[in-house]
Amino acid sequence: MHKEESISVIVPTYNECENLPELIQRIQKVKDEQNLNLELIIVDDDSKDGSEEYIESLGTPWCRIIVRRGERGLSSAVLKGFSDAKGDILIVMDADLSHPPEKIPEFIEQIQAGADMVIGSRYVAGGKTDEEWGVFRWLNSQIATLLARPLTSVKDPMSGFFALRKEVFEKSAPLNPTGYKIGLELLVKCPVKKVVEIPIYFSQRAKGKSKLSLKEQVKYLVHLRRLYFFKYENLTYLFHFSIIGFSGTLVNLVVLTIFVFLGIPVRLSVAMAIIIAMISNFILNRRFTFPHAVATPWFPQLVGFVSACSLGAVINYIIVILLLYVFPIFEKIPQIPALVGILAGLMFNFILSKNFVFRKKQY
Ligand code: GDD
Ligand code: MN
Repeated sequence: MHKEESISVIVPTYNECENLPELIQRIQKVKDEQNLNLELIIVDDDSKDGSEEYIESLGTPWCRIIVRRGERGLSSAVLKGFSDAKGDILIVMDADLSHPPEKIPEFIEQIQAGADMVIGSRYVAGGKTDEEWGVFRWLNSQIATLLARPLTSVKDPMSGFFALRKEVFEKSAPLNPTGYKIGLELLVKCPVKKVVEIPIYFSQRAKGKSKLSLKEQVKYLVHLRRLYFFKYENLTYLFHFSIIGFSGTLVNLVVLTIFVFLGIPVRLSVAMAIIIAMISNFILNRRFTFPHAVATPWFPQLVGFVSACSLGAVINYIIVILLLYVFPIFEKIPQIPALVGILAGLMFNFILSKNFVFRKKQY
């Protein structure tokens, strides 16, 4: 190991005072045995449980505590630690001893061997979770990991035990630290090519309680949505647009059924169902598919959207007619050309909506 490189270990804490003595003692042991140039930065969100006093009473220059007052959150705490860190290599871990400090040298070795990011993984050979997880937490963790799959092929992207070089971190795209998954955020937004997972034994939290609440789980979904937009901007737009288009079809059919049931003439009902479905699509697309659009006045957008849809309908129709003309066999199964027409219309609407109706302002 090249000893000249300096290491910063960042530990976010909230009410972890009772875990600090063992954590520090075990990290110190690794530091001494390996003769590492290592600093430990604890970023505490004003726990008021004696953590601050305890670290200050130690008087160890290699270990310090940053207390954030008025701000909370695991991810932003980690970023605060990063910005204060002096080390060439940054390592993040939990305070509750779920993450074995004895693994630190392996993280450093892998980084020095050329890994851009090293992850302490429960899901590679040799890794294990020891915490007594109920079925709910286990399932939850599996689903969360599966949802992140299109963003990264890492087996345990939820891990809170990871390392990367400070210079890699500094090249990251703008970060948006929501919730718990700062490791995932960095995996997606930093220029990491080579990721190495090393197996860890994720042990039962030593003392105190987990802070992973239901609220954090919901935040994870918001976070995921954002990362999908970051990584697959156009595909994510198209995905939302298609789902909303599908919902519009349902709106159309339901409204039509109700109107006919109320005795409104069929032709009028059909027309009104189309208009209502279009408005519903407009509102949902403006709010969810292209959320930046709410900053711009809605009326011109509505006009643009309706025009785009009408043009799309004409294109849909022309394509079906053309297909029927070229392949008369489709007369028997008009559903096929109709489907092609619908898809073409959808793509056309999408492209117009994205690039003209709800376009992002260029400053
Ligand atoms: N500063 C700060 N602010 N620290 C926090 C906050 C916060 O709002 N919330 C939690 N922490 C600290 C805890 O004190 C602990 O040191 C660490 O972050 C992890 O919190 P836990 O409450 O122990 O989380 P967990 O055990 O449920 O989750 C762990 O495992 C998950 C994978 O199953 C974490 O490592 C997660 O990042 C990981 O995804
Ligand atoms: Mn924990």
